[in-house]
Amino acid sequence: MNALPTDPAVESRAGLLAVDADHLWHPWSPSRVSPDTVVAVSGRGCEVWDADGRRYLDAKSSGLNATLGYGCRPVIDAVNAQLSRLMTYDMGEGANVPAIRLARRVAELTGPPLTRTFFCNSGSEAMETCIRIARFYHAVLGAPRRHLVVSFENAYHGATMAAAACSAGSSPVAKEVTPAGFVTLPRPGRAADGAGALRDFLARHGDRTAAVLVEPVQSRGGHLLPDASLRAVRELCDRHGALLVLDEVTTGFGRTGRMFGYQHSGVRPDLLATSKGLTAGYMSLAAVTTTEHVFDVFDANKTKAGFVHGHTHSGHAAACAAGLAVLDVVESEGLVANAEARGAQLLAALEETRPLPYVRDVRGRGLLVSLELDGSRRAARVRAHMKDGGVLVRRTGPNVLVAPPLIVTRDETERIATALLAAVSATATPAP
Ligand SMILES: Cc1ncc(COP(=O)(O)O)c(C=O)c1O
Repeated sequence: MNALPTDPAVESRAGLLAVDADHLWHPWSPSRVSPDTVVAVSGRGCEVWDADGRRYLDAKSSGLNATLGYGCRPVIDAVNAQLSRLMTYDMGEGANVPAIRLARRVAELTGPPLTRTFFCNSGSEAMETCIRIARFYHAVLGAPRRHLVVSFENAYHGATMAAAACSAGSSPVAKEVTPAGFVTLPRPGRAADGAGALRDFLARHGDRTAAVLVEPVQSRGGHLLPDASLRAVRELCDRHGALLVLDEVTTGFGRTGRMFGYQHSGVRPDLLATSKGLTAGYMSLAAVTTTEHVFDVFDANKTKAGFVHGHTHSGHAAACAAGLAVLDVVESEGLVANAEARGAQLLAALEETRPLPYVRDVRGRGLLVSLELDGSRRAARVRAHMKDGGVLVRRTGPNVLVAPPLIVTRDETERIATALLAAVSATATPAP
């Protein structure tokens, strides 16, 4: 067993990786750390430094969450100030000031009818909460048979039990332990009429469907839900009495070039889940924002419908203080408009790759851009080539996902595009 070094001078990259290999269980196992794993020690703007001193342009915003980049002083100061004053106060028994203020701030941004926010700690928890609210809602209204939850192929809604059940593409073993009542349909926008599979499904099972879950842009592969399809989904939900849940854990708070992804289509959800861009990675926080109508169903049936649900850290005061400061920066620095402009710049540059025989698609919205290649191996080579050149991107299956912080500059965007074009060309020759 490797001893943890106590002297900072011996915290070499190799030493840290050896301890990591002995003691850390990384998410998305069984992938183990490899010698080229980045062990991040510091960051500034869009850049992170590895323990060996190498500097990278982080074109994936850590886990798509570092929307303000690293070292954002106003957010750090706001969190520190709140920690010194009151780190948190239980929201089940009481309330705290940043949580109250942030709930109002979110309501100002979403506008009516989305006025009521429930805080939790991660995107998965937010989606789990949406699913529970949807099932409770119908049960309270006397329709407990309405329990089916519909999601779409390639979706990712999280890693807790119900959220994972709505995340297509699980391993065969994961499918065996998946709870009942979750249905995966082809993605709207693929069929000619935009939402054909959902229409057919609801025609048969509409009276048993609690909710339909949609990501405006899928975080796994950057697949875009066409605006017309989202409108068709909304209409179908209304017709069949199912709640529409928009998963904006990744797209919320500016990533797509609008404050929320749904603002491209004008469709309003019944439940909106947000997380990453809310605190930009400075603290862990997520939100479920819903309508007064949904809230009232619970409020008006208190004895029947007490929503027995919550987390110790729901509405954590320092996390909510981070959220308030993040939203100040997003608005005062015009970062939503920046995401739109830099995203357009990136997409235009990547269009150059479209004629290549091994490029299947170039797509994206704002700063959530994906290049789909002809296989996972080529995508892995592109990612590795870019890393060697000092630019970090994410790979999911055959897709190379580019999602830099919303503060990314024109020059940095050009650097990302140049590195990506070079990496894609480099894969034209077989791997050595
Ligand atoms: C669209 C979407 N939903 C849900 C989640 C789950 O969020 P978390 O990892 O914070 O649990 C993610 C995370 O990547 C996501 O992209």
